Amino acid sequence: MQKFAAGAWSAVLPAVVLCASLNAPVLAQDDRSVIASPDGRLSAEFWSENGLPRYRVLYDGEDVISASSLGLRFVVAGSLDRDLEIVGESRASQDLTWELPWGERRVVRDHHNELLVSYRHEEEAERGFDIRVRVFDEGLGFRYEVPVPGGEHRAIVDEVTSFAMPQQATTWWTQAADYNRYEYITRTTPLIDVETAHTPFTARLPDGGVHVAIHEAALVDYSGMRLDQQREGVLTAELAPGPDGVAVHKDGDFITPWRTIQVAEDAVGLINSDLILNLNEPNVLGDVSWVEPGKYVGIWWGMHIGTMSWGSGPIHGATTENAIEYLDFAADNGFSGVLVEGWNIGWDGDWFSNGALFSFTQPYPDFDIEAVTDHARERGVRLIGHHETSGHLTNYENQMEDAFALYERLGVTQVKTGYVADAGDLIRLDEQGEERREWHYGQYAVNHHIRVLETAARHHISINAHEPVKDTGLRRTYPNWISREGARGQEFNAWGVPPNPPEHISMLAFTRMLAGPMDFTPGIFNLTFSGPDSPNRVQTTLAKQLALYVVIYSPIQMAADLPENYAINPDAFQFIRDVPTDWENSVALQGEVGDFVVTARQERGGTDWFLGAVTDEEARTLSVPLDFLESGRRYRADIYSDGEGAHWHDDPYPVSIEHREVNAQDVLELDLAAGGGTAIRFAALDG
Ligand code: NOJ
Ligand code: CA
Repeated sequence: MQKFAAGAWSAVLPAVVLCASLNAPVLAQDDRSVIASPDGRLSAEFWSENGLPRYRVLYDGEDVISASSLGLRFVVAGSLDRDLEIVGESRASQDLTWELPWGERRVVRDHHNELLVSYRHEEEAERGFDIRVRVFDEGLGFRYEVPVPGGEHRAIVDEVTSFAMPQQATTWWTQAADYNRYEYITRTTPLIDVETAHTPFTARLPDGGVHVAIHEAALVDYSGMRLDQQREGVLTAELAPGPDGVAVHKDGDFITPWRTIQVAEDAVGLINSDLILNLNEPNVLGDVSWVEPGKYVGIWWGMHIGTMSWGSGPIHGATTENAIEYLDFAADNGFSGVLVEGWNIGWDGDWFSNGALFSFTQPYPDFDIEAVTDHARERGVRLIGHHETSGHLTNYENQMEDAFALYERLGVTQVKTGYVADAGDLIRLDEQGEERREWHYGQYAVNHHIRVLETAARHHISINAHEPVKDTGLRRTYPNWISREGARGQEFNAWGVPPNPPEHISMLAFTRMLAGPMDFTPGIFNLTFSGPDSPNRVQTTLAKQLALYVVIYSPIQMAADLPENYAINPDAFQFIRDVPTDWENSVALQGEVGDFVVTARQERGGTDWFLGAVTDEEARTLSVPLDFLESGRRYRADIYSDGEGAHWHDDPYPVSIEHREVNAQDVLELDLAAGGGTAIRFAALDG
């Protein structure tokens, strides 16, 4: 499927030129403001070097981020990147817990030390910024807090924040500023070979194996940060510009998103962290009991493999008849929803170029939306709504109030949105009705998503955005932001050139997934839908598709395949029926970036545990102690593993299903085939 045409990287800004060498002599410790984590292992230092604001991060006394720059540049005079000195500091500490309404765990601990460092201009005392840094045991975040006297306007063209690391660090990253938004295969290179990268950006330092992930938290009313290697070994924040070349417009005092640096002594330590959520503001929506985790099926995969169409015609997928069949399948198998794409006027013709033509309230004549939602109500399931905007933000904003009101009246509580358009090619009409182009992660798009969330929330609707802005933990503040895409999902296996490689999931777990939930849409059972020799196939075993429900966190999980493919494999399908999507607790047990990962999660409000293990193209045997289980309890382990001869390429289908009694003292040996995986349900037994 030709979904995207190549696009141009417009409005490129001049490269930042640092004014002093980053290798300048280190100042005496006394001149620095220093703050350490509660356990004392991680620390950050802030100072001014010949007027240039600087910081550094250390773990066990060794540099993680060596001397790096701070600062903001504006279009007109008044930039905050030089002639700054530290004029004061204040400190605070916090240790508390708070609850996620849904999530990979219920209770989150926020334990950090905080430092506020005030940098002011050497001659103009009112000019400057404060850096607020919060240091947790598993990483830190800092942000700029900028007082702007008189509420004046500031036009930010550049953020000078940089992250200096050893050039030989191993890094895992996807290219940024390129047409396919966040949807690229993860690269493994030494730092020196990084070009412009998205975050989360993951690295392993050369000695000792310390893992680092750079990202951001609470991206609100600002432009998303890409990392650009402007000098060898120094990644610099690069903000996506608006159509006027300015990255961020601000009036009066402002704060930036948090720049986050996770640090862990092993790879899974990056996953077992709540840093990003802790740096976001609490829920602003009040009672969110209407936000419902769940599993869903959909009129969807058929379009991606070409057996159905979004637009009208002989193979139109979104017919009343098909929807009723899917609703019945959902109800019979314990799913809570059915996604229906292609239900509304606008898909005919070249839909990815015709965003202005979409109606979000008018169904196609062969889709009787009232009959469909009546049937859903009778069967105790819900229709899941779909709004593909094709990147026309204004067309969507003009209709979204009516669109959400319609869905609310029909009992729809979740809507999948879509922004299929080349990066940098979102369309908005300005006050004069002129077309302006925006990045998916520019300030305008960032604010657009919040407007959608707020409008949806008034109608008790949750949003699952595809082709979104990256996740920065805003689900804490807006719990109706229930999931999103923002990486190569399952759909790439239908038509991607190439499809997702066997190592894809072991990459996502340590990169994209550090940001938050992903609507990957697992569960393809017919892995060779175009024949085993076609390049379009899923490059995993069937057992690995089951493991994805545990390894990839999302409060909504799709069973993405066609119902008929589940009907012929009911035994393996049982795992998808059993696995929940909301968790009391989660722990990544073992793994290496790009190689393998083993994750265990406890059902929220229940006693069952689930385990998912996936490997890359290498077969491997993993020894997994079950000490995460409640001690003294007995469990029936339903083990779905790669069967005899399984191999992602040669024979992906054999699944062996075994039931055993286990307890917390046991150690399981998991045999993963090449491109394979294991999925386990631990059902607690009485007594
Ligand atoms: C891209 C989304 O990721 C996919 O799930 C959807 O089917 C198409 N856009 C059409 O909206
Ligand atoms: Ca997509």
